[in-house]
Amino acid sequence: MSDKVAILGAGLVGSAWAIVFARAGHAVSLYDGDGAQSRQALARVGDNMRELVGFGLLDDADAALARISIAGNLAEALDGAAYAQESVFERADVKTEFYAEIDKVAGADLIVGSSSSGIPASVFTEGLDCAARCLIAHPINPPYVIPLVEVVPAPWTADAAVQTCWDLMLDVDMAPVRLTREVDGFIANRLQAALLWEAFRLLEAGIATAEDIDKTISEGLGRRWTFIGPFETIDLNAPGGLQDYAARLGPGFFEFVKQGEPAEPWSEAVIAKAHGERRNKLPLREQPARQAWRDRRLMALAKHFQEEAK
Ligand SMILES: NC(=O)c1ccc[n+]([C@@H]2O[C@H](COP(=O)([O-])OP(=O)(O)OC[C@H]3O[C@@H](n4cnc5c(N)ncnc54)[C@H](O)[C@@H]3O)[C@@H](O)[C@H]2O)c1
Repeated sequence: MSDKVAILGAGLVGSAWAIVFARAGHAVSLYDGDGAQSRQALARVGDNMRELVGFGLLDDADAALARISIAGNLAEALDGAAYAQESVFERADVKTEFYAEIDKVAGADLIVGSSSSGIPASVFTEGLDCAARCLIAHPINPPYVIPLVEVVPAPWTADAAVQTCWDLMLDVDMAPVRLTREVDGFIANRLQAALLWEAFRLLEAGIATAEDIDKTISEGLGRRWTFIGPFETIDLNAPGGLQDYAARLGPGFFEFVKQGEPAEPWSEAVIAKAHGERRNKLPLREQPARQAWRDRRLMALAKHFQEEAK
């Protein structure tokens, strides 16, 4: 496989992907329909790489940065690339139009992974010559410190394309999970949605403040979830393992899960309540600083995991 990777769409996620591939030694060609975005992305990549060096997560920011170049157009970005990571807007019409452009210039072996957060690849790749080589490779932002990537084939994606994408993700230190078929929201956002629905429900019912509901995760459940998932959590929490846990707590859980149905859209009132509480705690002007703080904590956590793996 050629070592060149094309990043198509150089916004928040595209620029973060550029770090993932350049850090692993790939030549990266960055393309965005808006040239100013590409230049901003490169500046952002440089800043983030220097922070990664500070946390011991990257040896040489200059060398990694030197592997990234800006392409003036789509054909230039794809020229000689074996893999493209598409990260344009999350809109079916935009992706459909963009994939038609990709199809015109893509080489016969190009594999295209989409960062799409929820639109399945079948929506925007049907009928294209390259359709069998297109799939979803959905990250959690920012992928240079959060390794999960959801690999989701469309019904017509070739197994070989899935395998190549999977191997590449492992090679650049990502942690791929494979879905057997398309489902709205994939796994991560379905789990996130279930949790958010319950959080809004508790807030709307006045059971607790948004701060305390957040704390239940940040100071509680989330601590375990940093390194084990929900199945392993319950497997470790009963002497007889998961089956024992299910027998002890399953019926009780079922009673209160039943009470929550059916799902309703979040009301304007509960959104305003949660938003108001958040704004009292964090004025919007302070949001960038808090985002930077979050990313530094994620870097420290990534370093911790790197040490654990040794
Ligand atoms: N933001 C997140 O947390 C997150 C996480 C995982 C996945 N994603 C997914 O990644 C993708 C990108 O999201 P983002 O947050 O980086 O968006 P963004 O708005 O920051 O960036 C999108 C970029 O794509 C460019 N673009 C749009 N249409 C284009 C076209 N036709 N040709 C070339 N460039 C074009 C834009 O100029 C922009 O720079 C979306 O599918 C999104 O759902 C986002």
